[in-house]
Amino acid sequence: MLRRLHSEQPETFAFTDANMAWAEAQISKYPEGRQASAVIPLLWRAQEQEGWLTRPAIETVADMLGMAYIRALEVASFYFMFQLQPVGSVAHFQVCGTTSCMICGAEDLMGVCQEKIAAKPHTLSADGKFSWEEVECLGSCANAPMVQIGKDYYEDLTADRFGEIIDELAAGKVPVPGPQNGRFASEPLSGLTSLKEFDSGHTKYNASAQLAVDIGDTIKRIDGTEVPLLTPWRKDAANDAGKPSASPEAQDVVQDAEKPAPVAKARDGGDAARIKPSAGLPGQQELAARKGDWKYQAGSAAKPEAAAARQETVTSDEQTGQKPEFLDAARGGRADDLKLIKGVGPKLEGVLNGIGVYHFDQIAAWSADEVAWVDDNLIGFKGRVSRDDWVAQARKLAAGEETEFAARAKKDGIYDT
Ligand code: FES
Repeated sequence: MLRRLHSEQPETFAFTDANMAWAEAQISKYPEGRQASAVIPLLWRAQEQEGWLTRPAIETVADMLGMAYIRALEVASFYFMFQLQPVGSVAHFQVCGTTSCMICGAEDLMGVCQEKIAAKPHTLSADGKFSWEEVECLGSCANAPMVQIGKDYYEDLTADRFGEIIDELAAGKVPVPGPQNGRFASEPLSGLTSLKEFDSGHTKYNASAQLAVDIGDTIKRIDGTEVPLLTPWRKDAANDAGKPSASPEAQDVVQDAEKPAPVAKARDGGDAARIKPSAGLPGQQELAARKGDWKYQAGSAAKPEAAAARQETVTSDEQTGQKPEFLDAARGGRADDLKLIKGVGPKLEGVLNGIGVYHFDQIAAWSADEVAWVDDNLIGFKGRVSRDDWVAQARKLAAGEETEFAARAKKDGIYDT
């Protein structure tokens, strides 16, 4: 398919303040003169914010990185993860049409798209909520046929189940990603024939589906105020008294039990249940709702600054350990490459930066209680700090020494996931 800029473009693009702070932190990771290396994460964040990549967004990113516009456009037009035309306000469906999926029913899935969304790909549905396209193999062939929806994979699909998923999304729900036929991952349909001990002790869903459920950003627009590291349902809600609370309409769309359980008691004893905003909310709430922010039944509109959001994530009585001190920004505007710590991949590094961890010496200084706190609050990565002994690794790296993993990562350019 010919990938080119859409014929209709907005006048301008601007990152939200929080996304701009995030983007600057990404750029600071690269040596002077190598800022262009941040082009993919910045383009991706622009798309996460807006839903698709506009010409002004591509040019803004190019300007931030000192790149010629054409070079940023080359990147944006090469990868089909980047959408160069408007997408549905709720979701964009990428239907795999390569061999395994085609043999297992991809054409039926595209038929569902044609029937429920639009006859042609890259066309908005009549209500503007959905769009679709056919893409090449997404690497989930053992679970064919599959569709990527937003950031997540929905696998082992049938036309009927795919139609139900579209209906659920239209109703404001986000079905759990992963296999849709009862399989846990890609084991034989008839059940495991070996490694049967795997059957015990695992999470409710497979690793990627569990992470999707924990983070909850499958189809969400990202404005940078999210604090994915911290368990948001433990947020202290009582201190938000006096701020506008979510409307009854919003309370109608309280997420179902498939989402992480709304747990915490607010300090006044009230429930701080997690809710998903919906259309029809007034003013700021509506704006936030369109961006897909999570709000709290007894909470308030999200604070715009990540630092404020950090302060708001007050620990409850159920918290383990002690919250470490975090920074508002990288010292000297330059963060350490935390991916040199075994167990920290690009996603987790972004999470750490998001809550104010930028330097090896911060991690090196964590006490056992602080390790316990971070371990307990790493959604999707619980226990990762002690599992890989980040503190010992960080002490060496902070002292200018090399770890075996860091040496290999630098040499091969291969980082943890
Ligand atoms: Fe569809 Fe590989 S053929 S995921």
